Amino acid sequence: MKKNITQCVLGILVAASSVITHAQQPTTIVGMEQLAWSEIAPGVWSAQIGEAEPMTFRELAGAPSRLDDMEAMGETEFPFDESQTHGQVIGTRTSVRLPLGLTEQVYGLGVQFRNMNRRGQVYHLRTDHYGGVLGRTHAPSPFYVTSDGYGVLFNTVKWISVYPGIGNRKDSTLPPIRDRTTDPAWQARPTSDAVEASAMTEGMEVIVFAGPTPLEAVQRYNLYFGGGALVPRWGLGFWHRVPTAATAEAVTAEVDEFAKRDFPLDVIGLEPGWQSHAYPGSFDWSPVRFPDPRGFVDAMGERDLKVNLWENPYISPTSSIFEEMKPYTGSHTVWLGEVPDYTMPEARELISDHHQKSHLDIGVSGYKIDEVDGVDSWLWPDHATFPSGTSAEDMRQTYGSQVQKWQSDMFRASDTRTYGLVRGSNAGASAYPYAIYSDYYNHKGFVTALCNSSLSGVLWTPEIRSANSDEEWVRRMQTVVFSPLAMLNAWSSGLKPWSREEVIPEIRDAMKWRVRFLPYLYTAFAQYHFEGTPPFRAMVLEPGYIPSKDEKGVLDDVSNPYAQAVRRDVTDQYMMGDSLLVAPFFMGQKERTVILPIGNWYDFYTGELAGNGEVITVPADLSFIPLFVKEGGIIPLLKEANNTSVWTKGVDLEVRHYGTEAGSTRLYDDDGKTFAYDRGEYSWYAINVEKSDRGKLKGSVLQSSGDFPQTFGKIKWKFMTE
Ligand code: GAL
Repeated sequence: MKKNITQCVLGILVAASSVITHAQQPTTIVGMEQLAWSEIAPGVWSAQIGEAEPMTFRELAGAPSRLDDMEAMGETEFPFDESQTHGQVIGTRTSVRLPLGLTEQVYGLGVQFRNMNRRGQVYHLRTDHYGGVLGRTHAPSPFYVTSDGYGVLFNTVKWISVYPGIGNRKDSTLPPIRDRTTDPAWQARPTSDAVEASAMTEGMEVIVFAGPTPLEAVQRYNLYFGGGALVPRWGLGFWHRVPTAATAEAVTAEVDEFAKRDFPLDVIGLEPGWQSHAYPGSFDWSPVRFPDPRGFVDAMGERDLKVNLWENPYISPTSSIFEEMKPYTGSHTVWLGEVPDYTMPEARELISDHHQKSHLDIGVSGYKIDEVDGVDSWLWPDHATFPSGTSAEDMRQTYGSQVQKWQSDMFRASDTRTYGLVRGSNAGASAYPYAIYSDYYNHKGFVTALCNSSLSGVLWTPEIRSANSDEEWVRRMQTVVFSPLAMLNAWSSGLKPWSREEVIPEIRDAMKWRVRFLPYLYTAFAQYHFEGTPPFRAMVLEPGYIPSKDEKGVLDDVSNPYAQAVRRDVTDQYMMGDSLLVAPFFMGQKERTVILPIGNWYDFYTGELAGNGEVITVPADLSFIPLFVKEGGIIPLLKEANNTSVWTKGVDLEVRHYGTEAGSTRLYDDDGKTFAYDRGEYSWYAINVEKSDRGKLKGSVLQSSGDFPQTFGKIKWKFMTE
């Protein structure tokens, strides 16, 4: 239906609670209508421009909003000037314009590899393999969060172009006009006072998430989409993917080597060759390489190992369900396989039923969902059609989310948690237990993506695949160990952790830290689920990172190097959980700088004071990845172990305290593998360190809520700072 501006309807979505209004002077923007906002969840407001779209991120989300947890965050007001929010539908293009402060910085807009601050660039958000164009990425979430402490989601699955602080309307507040010849302050891209966005659609919902801090805005976003994924405990152990043509025998021999050589392992990943046919895939076991799938999965289970299966969704004519699936596939093929339309319940039922019988029932723990992101020349064209009527564009933007959805639903129906990998995702995916990965392989870019993932409601793994030197091998391993999913993806290289003999001790040491951090990391994932706090986060989300004037004196870049440092785009360090700062070394570095936020920070390994609100330099040494713990930080660790099942079986913990002050943290516990936590079967433990009048520190662990039986054993305290 064609519409003009006057016909544009600004609808109001059904409000879950009261409508909040602010009396402000409306700003007139020629031809655009002021948006009408209604509060749809605690601290979340929606405005509809034009017509409601058939598919939005809300329908694609993995779980219902966690309204009680959002309520518990406290009351808050609409975070910026409503009168400056506008929308417009002209024909089939919908646009939106929201205010942006002159010094406000913009973060998010998906898992990008290059930088973090989005102000002053144009992003054409499209699901794609890494690609060179700004905005084309594995997870092009149209969600941003600003340094003023709120978030915005353009709730459309369409290709969307976003202009954060770029482009000036003639009826907006314009900066002074400067003469390029004589004025050094002339700008190629003059500062603008708005974020504008538009997509080819006849309407769009815009959702605003209050803070008041950037972290709280991200928390509300994650909670609105069901809370972050609480992954199974085994998912936080070490993962290893074997070469694509490996047989059951070869895999068994390989995993036994891990044990013999004393290397951690929890998950073994099979690549395309586990299937009878791949690219397109049959989803059926290869009778040649895996003649006895159940026996194989059982054999892995006896070693406390989980099995993860690679697949891409394009179905081969040789698949046992091809004929049944055929009516529910699109007009075009991918690698000559047919493309199931997973918006159709029939297609979802068929594939779930097959996977349940052939994989889940014999103990398979999850999947690596490949090729749902793109490269245009591999996937379907823009004019492809699908039996449900879903457009090729909508399908392309959401295919990864759809596969995550049916797989997650299937595991939930079996009351079994999964954790897997996916190469394409989008907004609203917080509750899906999948880490995004890429064929891109730039170490720094991988760390930047890790920082950005926390601003887009997804998880990311900087997987290790191969290296050109011992140094690169160690540095990459040290990084992936401190990430949401620690994996060696040897599908092509065939490498093993011990392949580079000179650095076996460094590699083993890094991998063992992964397992030792399990209690701390699992708690971080519980916080992701119940509070929406990303387990790995960009520094801009860390309280105390951006100093207030009172805290750090005058913030001019001359007298205050810290202020200068935090203003640059910090893409090479990040937080893991509440207390740990991770600053990986990259190839060739003899030393690196680390920005320590305000407050005392201590060296993780020695407990010594490292700095406070300053930039420090750490000399490189192959044996470690720099880690820092904040004042009063408490880190619960396992004792040395190679497999996370030691916790399930009851295990003693080592609890480390850093600094000279009292502190407290929480430890989460549940069965680690089912959805019993959704039925209230979990416990939180309060870990406290108190300081006596004479300055002596003393620790205690108390069950603070829940009555899930304790699955860990005794606690050994270590006060790391003398
Ligand atoms: C790629 C994927 C790799 C590996 C390979 C197997 O698309 O990104 O990690 O799985 O397929 O063919």
